Amino acid sequence: MPDDLSAPSSTGTSIGTSGGRFVRNTWYVAAWAASVEPGKMLARTVLNTPIVLFRTADGTAKAMPDTCPHRFAPLSMGTILPGDRIQCPYHGLEFAADGQCVHNPHGTGAIAAGLHLKTITAVERHSVIWVWLGEKTPTPESIPDFSPLDTTAPEFITEPGYLHMKAGYELIVDNLLDLSHTTYLHAGILGNDETVHAKITVEQDGDVVAVSRGINDITTPGLLATLATWDSPRGDQIQTIRWFAPSTLSLKTGSKPVGRPESEGTGFWAIHLLTPETETTTHYFYTAARWNPLTTDPAKNAEIRAHIYKMRTFAFAEQDAPVIEAQQRRITQLGDPKPTLLAIDAGPVQYRRILDRMIRED
Ligand code: FES
Ligand SMILES: [Fe+2]
Repeated sequence: MPDDLSAPSSTGTSIGTSGGRFVRNTWYVAAWAASVEPGKMLARTVLNTPIVLFRTADGTAKAMPDTCPHRFAPLSMGTILPGDRIQCPYHGLEFAADGQCVHNPHGTGAIAAGLHLKTITAVERHSVIWVWLGEKTPTPESIPDFSPLDTTAPEFITEPGYLHMKAGYELIVDNLLDLSHTTYLHAGILGNDETVHAKITVEQDGDVVAVSRGINDITTPGLLATLATWDSPRGDQIQTIRWFAPSTLSLKTGSKPVGRPESEGTGFWAIHLLTPETETTTHYFYTAARWNPLTTDPAKNAEIRAHIYKMRTFAFAEQDAPVIEAQQRRITQLGDPKPTLLAIDAGPVQYRRILDRMIRED
């Protein structure tokens, strides 16, 4: 692979720009399911749109615009009434869960067409609540598959993580689809001097882009070493990250004894769910689900669970976020400069082509 990828730039791909380009007709993660508690409302902005999340009396997750059509008070400041109605805190208009205005306590009680809210479809799946803000018909079958979150025992899944990032989602996808940065930004935790020499393979299956970084017989990086049970500090690296349009990723990472089959290895599915809040801010939900855990002692597994969460949170919040947020500020300051690409950008280039097409078609 050449050290520079001139072809992608010449085809007009917009890799490295400050972004702020959204696909609207698709699913975004609005919240961890557990953070939408019965009887409470959760306000969140997705694609520049304030929405409110809540549950009906039977526990079904719902979403609606968080702006009253009367005088724009946030409905999330209001009350959930019996009958799954949301009452505006200001002058008492009431809305059904599908956004229809169902009660006007004033005047004749007439409900003008402009009092109805747009319907926002919400689906609870894989421990999160997905929302569809586009105009086209929602397609629940197109929600990406994060089934390791459904099939893994709770003691092997880390607690739900959340970061508010002051950077556009595309910069974070770039970060995740190019894990060469682990050698530098996460030295000792997620990468080391040897992992930078991994062989990068990019594959595309439909609109899913997979980037693999295999390298054998290396010192197992710190976090993965805490999961390994074999009697050597060395192992073969297992690392394939998949991007699901527009902004969720699933990384299978781990290690195995040198020269041995993957079934003798161990690691975790690293789940990254990115949701644009605005052009330059992103909701970042993350967790990890262990695969083939080789440790059986409950105390040891509890320790590993806490350790994976702690080290990943440190890596994202203290190592990735400062650089990505500074990168965003620089890109904004310089007015969308064009990057000079390296071999490591093969994955980011591939996904940006797909994203560009989807934004055009949207
Ligand atoms: S602002 Fe909501 S009823 Fe007036
Ligand atoms: Fe990182």
